[in-house]
Amino acid sequence: MAEATNTDYSLDQPINSSFGLRQGLTSYGDAHFSLFLRKVFIKALGYSEEALEKPIIGIVNTFSGFNPCHANTPQLIDAVKRGVHLAGGLAVEFPTISIHESFSSPTSMYLRNLMSIDTEEMIRAQPCDAVVLIGGCDKTTVAQLMGGISANKPILHLVTGPMMPGKHKGVRIGACTDCRNNWAKFRAGQVELEDIAAVNEELAPTGGTCGVMGTASTMACVLVGLGLMPFAGASAAAVSAARLRVAEKTGSNAVAAFKAREALRPQELLTRESFLNAITVLQAIGGSTNVVVHLMAIIGRHPKVTGTITLETFNEIGQKTPLLVDLKPSGQNYMTDFHDSGGMLALLHQLKPLLYLDALTISGLTLGQELAKASPLAVPRELSCIQPFDQPLYPKSSSVVVKGNLAPGGAVIKASASKNRKLLNHSGRAVVFSNSEDMARRIDSPDLDVKHDDILVLQSIGPVGNPGMPEAGMIPIPRKLSAQGVDDMVRISDGRMSGTAGGTIVLHVSPEAADPSSVLGIIQNGDIISLKVEEGTLNVNIAEEEISRRKQERLGQVGGPWLERESMRGYRGLYMRSVTQAEEGADFDFLRADGPSKSQ
Ligand code: FES
Repeated sequence: MAEATNTDYSLDQPINSSFGLRQGLTSYGDAHFSLFLRKVFIKALGYSEEALEKPIIGIVNTFSGFNPCHANTPQLIDAVKRGVHLAGGLAVEFPTISIHESFSSPTSMYLRNLMSIDTEEMIRAQPCDAVVLIGGCDKTTVAQLMGGISANKPILHLVTGPMMPGKHKGVRIGACTDCRNNWAKFRAGQVELEDIAAVNEELAPTGGTCGVMGTASTMACVLVGLGLMPFAGASAAAVSAARLRVAEKTGSNAVAAFKAREALRPQELLTRESFLNAITVLQAIGGSTNVVVHLMAIIGRHPKVTGTITLETFNEIGQKTPLLVDLKPSGQNYMTDFHDSGGMLALLHQLKPLLYLDALTISGLTLGQELAKASPLAVPRELSCIQPFDQPLYPKSSSVVVKGNLAPGGAVIKASASKNRKLLNHSGRAVVFSNSEDMARRIDSPDLDVKHDDILVLQSIGPVGNPGMPEAGMIPIPRKLSAQGVDDMVRISDGRMSGTAGGTIVLHVSPEAADPSSVLGIIQNGDIISLKVEEGTLNVNIAEEEISRRKQERLGQVGGPWLERESMRGYRGLYMRSVTQAEEGADFDFLRADGPSKSQ
């Protein structure tokens, strides 16, 4: 049996705390005693002295019975451990909270920052030399990256991978674009009750993340763009052997990352160019609008990058980036098709002219060197859902930031997901709902005064107005219009929209309606709103004096979450007092790299 090293218990010799079990000792006032105690307890798990000499690779376990997107986590952990041990490390798993979209009330976004705190502090507190972050469902990878950057130990993402598509009456379907499409048809009376029930059985036929280019898939692709995951890691199916091989490789990569740890800490590895690559990927895949908010939060955690990228950067990159990937909701296919078309390896080869190829990846090689190592398989054109660079599906800017007197802080629209492109430049009469309850009460009323060319406005679903900024921005088409065949209208809100949804939908309007300074909050029925995506503007034709008058009138009305938050307790109070607006990522002000620099 191996013996404890001399320095462990020799009181006159310093402890080598540069890596492994001896780093970050619990404070008992006596470092040697602290190490002695730590060894007492870890030996209760059967570890030998020899095992305890190895670098420790932490594996974040986000398995939960409430998270089917993470159903394969136990198998992934086994495979990661195999990779770590083959490479000479010691793998130790530990839990953090787990967030699933449908099991988080009021929303998963409300808990994202909490998960990031959990992830950051547990990485920092425990003796890990590098950490494999297993996650997948929308907010989890984001929270893990936010926390990982702040903790600043080498991090390697391993997403759980997309689910397989299902079938109904011979037609492929999958969560969650087809959840929404089928539900909208059911609401309009175009789908029978027994069909909607049968569809419900098939929309998520396996574990794994939503199988379209929703937020989870978008983040997976963005993580590859950032250099934090192998190419195949974004798209190999959750239930595939390929996914397990990615997991094993991630384990061995983590040991290598430990060895090169000074260069591969996220605050060193990730540069402005890494994030510009990520935004290029986001635009080229027609990615989720949620990821605009998420990237701003992630960037806000990075002391050297925060402030160098703004919402305008997304437009600048969008102007030169074509939409190349034909996946729902912008297109027709599923993540398994993307994988079969060559996935991120094939896409990044197409995007090479736009990428910063010198950006470092977690392997220690640059993105250019990684691409040079592997050529994508030659998939026949007609079988691929990845377009050549010069034959795009959409010439530029799948997601566009618009600004104007209605959104001085900015708003986002996924232009590529519009069902009626004429609406991207449209003026119309506002039909206003003051909050989600008001909308639910009146949207399907036969008495609602609404026409197909009106603009639907939903207030008070922003970060503070409706904690967690719910994905309610895809305001349903009023039933009396959908029954006439209307399937798209301009819709505007301060909330978010599922990455799996589509339509001409303006989101994340800032400042949000709950903010007394907001113009969105004083819009009234009949105001004329003008959306010009080509020009990047969103305005309402109310005179400045009238805007001031309405704001003053509103100030006189006491109450609302903006004021009530000062006296709220617990996490709700922390969230309400600390959450930033969408253009800063809706992170907590005190978690940003520059600290609570702004007060609301
Ligand atoms: Fe988890 Fe869609 S619900 S990725």
